[in-house]
Amino acid sequence: MQKLHRWTGDEPAHPPTQPLLYQVAYCSRASSDVDRAVLQRIVATAQRYNPAHGITGMLVFGSGVFFQWLEGPHEHVVALMQRLRGDPRHDTMVELSQGEEVRERLFPQWDMELVTSDHIREVLEDALESASDEHNLRALRHLLTCLEAGPLSGIQGG
Ligand SMILES: Cc1cc2nc3c(=O)[nH]c(=O)nc-3n(C[C@H](O)[C@H](O)[C@H](O)COP(=O)(O)O)c2cc1C
Repeated sequence: MQKLHRWTGDEPAHPPTQPLLYQVAYCSRASSDVDRAVLQRIVATAQRYNPAHGITGMLVFGSGVFFQWLEGPHEHVVALMQRLRGDPRHDTMVELSQGEEVRERLFPQWDMELVTSDHIREVLEDALESASDEHNLRALRHLLTCLEAGPLSGIQGG
């Protein structure tokens, strides 16, 4: 019988039981002044904030569009989404999926990794290859489908 474990963010990064994970995937339009320096500042903020709140994930940027995958304790991910909605460096946030379930993290080592759109398929396919959890396999196939058919299909070139 699976032991449910709701994260508060204060636990060690890899608890022995699988946590109840909340995840959100969204796309947004970057403001016109987003450049390499802005991206570096965003990632530096994320790499400070996310580990302290049990959040991992991935940020993709290409052709003026952001795609971000966030996973972690429900209250911390919701609080971060709230801050993201008020960030003037992007607008038109479109939530592609969200949900909460007991499963392994898709990106357990990534506080917040910036991936160029050239590499997104590779990253997702690698994760798909190493995933054993049925929920993760489903989530990754879903993201790959979004990449093919959804708003992400417009992202070309890093
Ligand atoms: C596309 C995008 C992704 C971001 N991802 C994160 C993130 O994963 N973690 C984080 O702490 N801040 C992230 N930020 C920055 C937040 O929006 C916000 O600036 C930061 O949390 C500081 O919030 P504050 O200015 O209210 O203190 C991101 C910003 C953008 C534009």
